[in-house]
Amino acid sequence: MTGIKIDGKVIAQSVKDRIKKAVEELKTQGITPCLATILIGDNSASSTYVRNKHMACKEVGITTKDHKLEKNITQLELNNIIDSLNSDSTVHGILIQLPLPKQIDEFTTTSRISPLKDVDGLTPHNTGLLAMKKAALVACTPSGIMEMFDYHGIDLDGKNVVLINRSNLVGKPLYHLLLEKNATVVTCHSRTKNLTELCQAADIVITAVGNRNKFTLTPEMIKEGAVVIDVGISRLNEKLVGDSDFEQIIQKASFATPIPGGVGPMTVAMLLKNTITAVSLSRQIGR
Ligand SMILES: NC(=O)c1ccc[n+]([C@@H]2O[C@H](COP(=O)([O-])OP(=O)(O)OC[C@H]3O[C@@H](n4cnc5c(N)ncnc54)[C@H](OP(=O)(O)O)[C@@H]3O)[C@@H](O)[C@H]2O)c1
Repeated sequence: MTGIKIDGKVIAQSVKDRIKKAVEELKTQGITPCLATILIGDNSASSTYVRNKHMACKEVGITTKDHKLEKNITQLELNNIIDSLNSDSTVHGILIQLPLPKQIDEFTTTSRISPLKDVDGLTPHNTGLLAMKKAALVACTPSGIMEMFDYHGIDLDGKNVVLINRSNLVGKPLYHLLLEKNATVVTCHSRTKNLTELCQAADIVITAVGNRNKFTLTPEMIKEGAVVIDVGISRLNEKLVGDSDFEQIIQKASFATPIPGGVGPMTVAMLLKNTITAVSLSRQIGR
């Protein structure tokens, strides 16, 4: 059997079309949504990610404020910049591109962002709300994956899902979102002993390891007709690859995401969506 490709570019475009309309509507009310980005240092992958996010904002009419900071910035200096963005009423969303340099503490930094402007959904406040099914701003990659299920009408109710990742960015928020949809979720990681058996029993496998030297999700590891969402990104022979080989896995899966063109575009689209949500949160509190 050959399954259906879940095309992240197409689904992301449908999200962006909706956002573009919402932005036009906000502009008629005198509100221009604005995303502030903070990029520290000169990591070329991070620069590319931020540039892509700016381009996507421009596409839908969201303005951006770009903060490029020296890689030796202190925590105190960074905190001051975050504080000033928190209190700037023209800024609706704040994104700090990860990873951060050694002298900067990730938890201290993300926690400093106002939960109302936390478009990455990584503050303790918003992750706590997610666990209690009350979140408005949810981490972009997990919510992008949920949007993909929705787009293809993939029902999660009662499904066995194996999630290979337990990070704050991907696995933990996704666990809560899947649970909310009544899936039975098994969260796996580098110390999981019977990963192959767990995957073979799963209706849906979501893999986000990102290191092909350590891990590959092979067709033998999934059952016929399973859904495979591949989040992991690594370089193999100078090529950008996922945790699985799309062309092979799609022969056995009912649905699968490619890399590139799968989860990546969805992550950016959900950032735009969160920026619009942040606008409505700011209006609810009258700022
Ligand atoms: N496309 C996108 O938009 C997007 C967005 C976010 C992330 N990503 C990609 O997704 C990947 C994960 O990102 P992350 O930030 O969550 O990274 P991370 O924190 O390094 O998480 C990797 C996860 O994989 C697990 N793992 C490592 N080796 C394993 C093995 N041999 N078997 C099973 N599990 C194993 C780790 O387990 P332990 O917890 O035990 O270490 C960890 O939970 C990266 O490649 C990243 O680039 C893509």
